[in-house]
Amino acid sequence: MDLADKLMNVIVITISLLALFFLHQYRFLNSLISTVRTLFKENLTGKVVLITGASSGIGEHLAYEYARRGARLALVARRNQRLQEVADDINFWGSVYSSYFAQQHLKKSKGKIIVISSCAGWVFAPRTAFYNASKAALISFYETLRIEFGTQIGVTIVTPGFIDTEMTEGKFLSKEGRLEVDREMRDVQVSLMPVESVEKCAKAIVESARRGDRYLTVPSWMETTILWKVFCPEIMDGWNRFMILGPGSSYRDSPSKKILDVVNEIKQLLLP
Ligand SMILES: NC(=O)c1ccc[n+]([C@@H]2O[C@H](COP(=O)([O-])OP(=O)(O)OC[C@H]3O[C@@H](n4cnc5c(N)ncnc54)[C@H](OP(=O)(O)O)[C@@H]3O)[C@@H](O)[C@H]2O)c1
Repeated sequence: MDLADKLMNVIVITISLLALFFLHQYRFLNSLISTVRTLFKENLTGKVVLITGASSGIGEHLAYEYARRGARLALVARRNQRLQEVADDINFWGSVYSSYFAQQHLKKSKGKIIVISSCAGWVFAPRTAFYNASKAALISFYETLRIEFGTQIGVTIVTPGFIDTEMTEGKFLSKEGRLEVDREMRDVQVSLMPVESVEKCAKAIVESARRGDRYLTVPSWMETTILWKVFCPEIMDGWNRFMILGPGSSYRDSPSKKILDVVNEIKQLLLP
């Protein structure tokens, strides 16, 4: 076993490092394929699209984008029901159950699943452990299903960064299961990070699914954070810990919030 491990260490690491030399060509080939796919995008007229979480944010704007392209919509939300679940049975199991029941129909109709995960699936910002875990679980689950479905059902995994919705306005689920708005917590988490418009995000998602892409990250520059996570995770973890947790016990002391406060004060001075 020791010998097998040693051999694998040499062979796999050498092949992986060699493969990195061809990364550029591989990415170029992928963009070429994506351009060709753009020419043969799916026609959405009359297609049935089920959107969960359609009463606000990304889901709401996806509904507008699909409606504009002539799709028939089934919209799901829960706004006026009492909150009974906690956030970590929602994000993962909500998607698992709906996919489980829909898969037979999707196979017959050569349908598609669009998974709204998050960059939080690999950028592990502190204070949102259950959210991050559920998003990482979604990625693993649908990566596996994509392999199992083969060409029967297309799976596009979307990983948004910060998008301008109720979520980035500071909507959180309290321990008691109540929806609450906490602007200060929002400032700690989002700070000076650019927030993408929800309209642009929804449009990019629909077009990506029509092309049959495997992944989409919005905004696309957030994709580079994967490199940081893979090649220098210590730097990424240290940065997140320093910026979001900070030296004090309260999240109000975090550098990410303090920097935002200073920038806002300067803005007020310059633009009264
Ligand atoms: N905004 C961002 O920066 C960002 C970044 C990364 C990933 N995401 C992901 O994008 C997805 C959409 O978020 P958003 O930003 O559009 O937030 P949002 O504006 O708060 O929308 C959330 C939607 O989900 C519905 N919902 C919540 N709990 C539900 C439940 N238990 N059953 C059924 N529907 C439920 C809400 O409707 P009701 O309250 O009426 O049920 C609402 O329509 C989420 O998965 C989020 O994690 C967002």
